[in-house]
Amino acid sequence: MQRSPASVSIKTVKLKTPFILAPLAGITNLPFRMMAKQWGCALVCSEMVSAQGLVRKMRRSMDLLQSDPEEKPLAIQIFGAVPEVMAEAARIVEDAGADIVDINFGCAVRKIVKTGAGAALMKDLKTAEALLRSVRAAVTIPMTLKMRAGWIPGGSQALELAVIAEACGADAVTVHPRTATQGFKGNADWSIIRAVKARLSIPVIGNGDVFSPRDALRMMETTGCDAVMIGRKAVGNPWIFSQCAALLEGKPPPAVSMEIRKETMERYVDAMVAFLGERRACPMLRSRLGWFVKGIPHAGRFKEAIKSISSKADALEAVGALNALGSD
Ligand SMILES: Cc1cc2nc3c(=O)[nH]c(=O)nc-3n(C[C@H](O)[C@H](O)[C@H](O)COP(=O)(O)O)c2cc1C
Repeated sequence: MQRSPASVSIKTVKLKTPFILAPLAGITNLPFRMMAKQWGCALVCSEMVSAQGLVRKMRRSMDLLQSDPEEKPLAIQIFGAVPEVMAEAARIVEDAGADIVDINFGCAVRKIVKTGAGAALMKDLKTAEALLRSVRAAVTIPMTLKMRAGWIPGGSQALELAVIAEACGADAVTVHPRTATQGFKGNADWSIIRAVKARLSIPVIGNGDVFSPRDALRMMETTGCDAVMIGRKAVGNPWIFSQCAALLEGKPPPAVSMEIRKETMERYVDAMVAFLGERRACPMLRSRLGWFVKGIPHAGRFKEAIKSISSKADALEAVGALNALGSD
């Protein structure tokens, strides 16, 4: 497939490639985003941040705005259901230096939808429109949104919301074509991405079930989407971004050697400890380092070894021993 990577721009934000990191709550913190960036990801996104939390200056929400110039361009995603609160939160996001404010129309978790936020907005298009207009008027940085297929199967809410969003001045739309009631079950219905792309002039970002560089290109080819957002498959596999870029240029996706794997893990350990401090980072590393060894020989033994990590040195030692685990 021939496509000029420079052709993908979200208003003023030019993307080097069409491959984007999805927001993943509890995962896409600064160290994770930096890692994706190092491996060629064109645009990183924070996890969803509560608009109420930002407006009330809650520590947990404000902490999620922390960023680094090297990860730019950065999208910060906010969620909420009250237009004025969302507008104020978007201003806070802009002042924090984000390049894009993204609005969550897709979260299907009970505690979020019962407040009218996330995917619940897809069944209340009047509020959705008010919210989009309010945020648009509040900031000058690009405004994007990320939605599901709709609330229940068989509807056309994605298309309706996408058209409203464009009319409200949205600069791009991401579509994860599963319904809210579907959660993560079944397959993403890529035909919905194609339908949205056919109706809009602004860039459409496809998302859902991209598990390989080949899937990413297939999504672009079959839906015509301008960019591809990758979530679960980027976890423990940041190399997917450079592999997608290579394949797009017609080159074979570069293999990931054990040396590269170890170096990436070491940098992640360093970054997690620098960002969170050793005491908070270590319990997280006990499970997170396991992300990186999926499918490699003796992954089970590595996962056992990392369970007792209680210092940065322990973590680096476990990573250092990966060769030995892989060779016997
Ligand atoms: C653990 C986890 C956390 C997520 N958190 C968010 C979030 O904060 N905001 C959001 O819009 N979507 C969130 N999502 C949805 C993903 O961004 C993405 O739409 C979904 O995983 C489908 O893409 P994939 O098949 O590439 O994983 C989350 C998904 C997972 C698995």
